[in-house]
Amino acid sequence: MKSLKFILIIFPILIYSQKDSLAISINNGKSLYNDFCIICHMHDGKGQKGIFPPLAKSDYLFKNIQESIKAIKFGGIDGEIIVNGVKYDSKMEKMGLYDDEIADIMNYILNSWENNYDKRITEEYVKSLKTLK
Ligand code: HEC
Repeated sequence: MKSLKFILIIFPILIYSQKDSLAISINNGKSLYNDFCIICHMHDGKGQKGIFPPLAKSDYLFKNIQESIKAIKFGGIDGEIIVNGVKYDSKMEKMGLYDDEIADIMNYILNSWENNYDKRITEEYVKSLKTLK
């Protein structure tokens, strides 16, 4: 009985703090996005057709989360990419962001402009990605 009470109390706290840390990360990510990404990908995440790809409802982003993180961390994606049916063949520069900042920005872009992602990107995950390829 004692352990059941324990579970009933601890479990909601755990779930709540998980959700809370995602909300905090998204919030940090928003101001980082406004500093580092908004000039190309725009305030609504729609980019500039044919020049800067959209992040809002981007099929590429949701299919290539790991590649996207690497592109932000190490600079660029080699070769052309197709985002929502449009070709992009330019390169993002390395922006010198820390792993925790990249995690926050990812959580922001994955959960803004009607984007919805059920997992949280963690600093540990970004840290584990060591090279562009
Ligand atoms: C100077 C303009 C510029 C800035 C600043 C910039 N990007 Fe990009 N981004 C691009 C371009 C151009 C591509 C397409 C790359 C290619 O063709 O290889 C791209 C591609 C991407 C992609 C993958 C394609 C997609 O649309 O899903 C993601 C994700 C992304 N950028 C996120 C970010 C984030 C997050 C930031 C800020 C930390 C950022 N970008 C800053 C220009 C920029």
